[in-house]
Amino acid sequence: MSTFQIKNLEEYFQVYRKSVETPELFWAEVAEEHFLWRKRWDKVLSWDFSKPEVKWFEGAKLNITENCLDRHLLNRGDKTAILFEPNDPNEPAQHISYRELYERVNKFANVLKAQGIGKGDRVCIYLPMIPELAVSVLACARIGAIHSVVFAGFSSTALATRINDSDCKMVITSDGSYRGGKVIDLKKIVDDALEECSTVETVLVAKRIQAEVPMKEGRDKWLQPLLDEASSECAAEVMDAEDPLFILYTSGSTGRPKGMVHTTAGYMVYTAYTFKNVFQYEEDDIYWCTADIGWITGHSYIVYGPLANGATTLMFEGVPSYPDWGRFWQVVEKHKVTQFYTAPTAIRALARQGLEYVEKYDLSSLKILGTVGEPINDEAWHWYNNHIGKGRCPIVDTWWQTETGGILISPIPFSTPTKPTFATLPLPGIQPVLMDTDGKEVQGRSVSGRLAIKFPWPSMARTIWGDHERYRETYFSAFPGKYFTGDGALRDAEGYYRITGRVDDVIIVSGHNLGTAPIEAAINEHPVVAESAIVGFPHEIKGNALYGYVILKPAGEALDPDALRKEINALIAGQIGPIAKLDKIQFVSGLPKTRSGKIMRRILRKIANNDFENLGDISTLLNPEVVEEIIKNRL
Ligand code: WTA
Repeated sequence: MSTFQIKNLEEYFQVYRKSVETPELFWAEVAEEHFLWRKRWDKVLSWDFSKPEVKWFEGAKLNITENCLDRHLLNRGDKTAILFEPNDPNEPAQHISYRELYERVNKFANVLKAQGIGKGDRVCIYLPMIPELAVSVLACARIGAIHSVVFAGFSSTALATRINDSDCKMVITSDGSYRGGKVIDLKKIVDDALEECSTVETVLVAKRIQAEVPMKEGRDKWLQPLLDEASSECAAEVMDAEDPLFILYTSGSTGRPKGMVHTTAGYMVYTAYTFKNVFQYEEDDIYWCTADIGWITGHSYIVYGPLANGATTLMFEGVPSYPDWGRFWQVVEKHKVTQFYTAPTAIRALARQGLEYVEKYDLSSLKILGTVGEPINDEAWHWYNNHIGKGRCPIVDTWWQTETGGILISPIPFSTPTKPTFATLPLPGIQPVLMDTDGKEVQGRSVSGRLAIKFPWPSMARTIWGDHERYRETYFSAFPGKYFTGDGALRDAEGYYRITGRVDDVIIVSGHNLGTAPIEAAINEHPVVAESAIVGFPHEIKGNALYGYVILKPAGEALDPDALRKEINALIAGQIGPIAKLDKIQFVSGLPKTRSGKIMRRILRKIANNDFENLGDISTLLNPEVVEEIIKNRL
């Protein structure tokens, strides 16, 4: 039995037991078997959740890019590392081999050095999903600079906040980007952001759309000429296991974004291990994660996890709806994708379009389907399973967070029997617990509570950049001695976990705690409902009442709205209870979403509370225009 890959359910239980009983031994074996170390560790783990302080593989020396690139040159030099599929389906795909990627990363690393970037410096990367994004991430890691990727859909204000929070010395961007039918002037966004920033000395500009953009003398430099002159050999900086690898910002339930800091060795070991097991990657597979590298999913499961396994990872520049809603399936057919990993919000949008877009394409290459980012509702799960997986591809519902670095709860395909809407069982090394509101652990099966993790795992974030106290307070104070996730979950009779949603979205109606997620799932069961979101608003008798925002499928638009409202409430009453019925139901054309597809309940809550004068910064939304419509038609 290999330590590295679990092949059946019995092995999973064996490995899991070992990982809990002797975690240090278990992780040492994983780390020993599969990675290239410059120096072995002195101590596998030391931890204290009260400080909190966590160190993995202390004393070890390594460079993550030697694990992602150099060591594959011998056996996989000509294998495609990154398969780039451009926004325009008529532009040829690019197959970047491990050798070519190695050379491009080394050249880029030499450019960074020549521009004065060294170990520990922060570099902000604000690029579209083009190969330079992955290359620049790896180039930073090559020389020990700390990358801070900001999703290239954030506004200049959001970008400036992030640059300033970690005092970035450089920004890497492009002359623009393609997104579906749109062209976006990224350079202008950077220029606007830098009006507010004083630490940035250099801006490197990649060419993507061949636009004329203003270049600020002394600060802005075209990337290509610098790369052309750089050597394709750059010695990897030897890093300590606990040296920071990157910062990635995530929004808190309140306040400024949190710069989650991930370190080198533990992050590498855990993302590589989970990539191999959750996607059961085999040598000739073509793996595709549709996330953007601007999010943690892209960091861990487009770049580091796959490359540390010598995988072929597909990078897609475009959007699911361009040139039409068949694009994902066209790409699957074109590249014979074997593992496909996306988000429930995308699945629901795709399911809304009708099957003709799916049925045009041959999806027989698919072996495993993945989902991440929010609870997947029953209807979306079955649509994905029936129409994309054709009932023969296990669905891995992967639960994790920016803070966790890698997937913590997920089925292992072909081993763990899946169950709709359940993330199922913890991966090796992960010790989840459910807590009640009094801070006591909820024991046994068929129970629910707040999800916490009681033992460290290698890829957990070590701190919030510049604010360790906020890190402690946010994650380690609710349940002393445990990491609190902010999510609620239930554990069923089989011990399977279902993540029910953020516990901060609980609404108390007439003294009853109601979760938004199950009510939304009930509404979404209605055949003409595409998506919904509910929030609380003050009610004289009940304390709070529920306000629902509902998007209809085209078939629902011609129906009588009041009859529909009754039907929706009947569904909720049937599935949860009359207490969960909605007082108000507004039909809307869209819901305000973050760029990563999460519904901004905060905004909906304010509108439902008639407090829409002061909505805060909505410029970072995917669809700010929908907010006006919702306000205009509010009930
Ligand atoms: C939610 C994304 C249910 C959860 C990797 C978590 C999920 C938050 C799932 C983290 C899932 C993520 N089922 N909920 N499979 N995956 N979530 O930081 O609420 O963008 O706390 O990381 O997304 O979002 P983040």
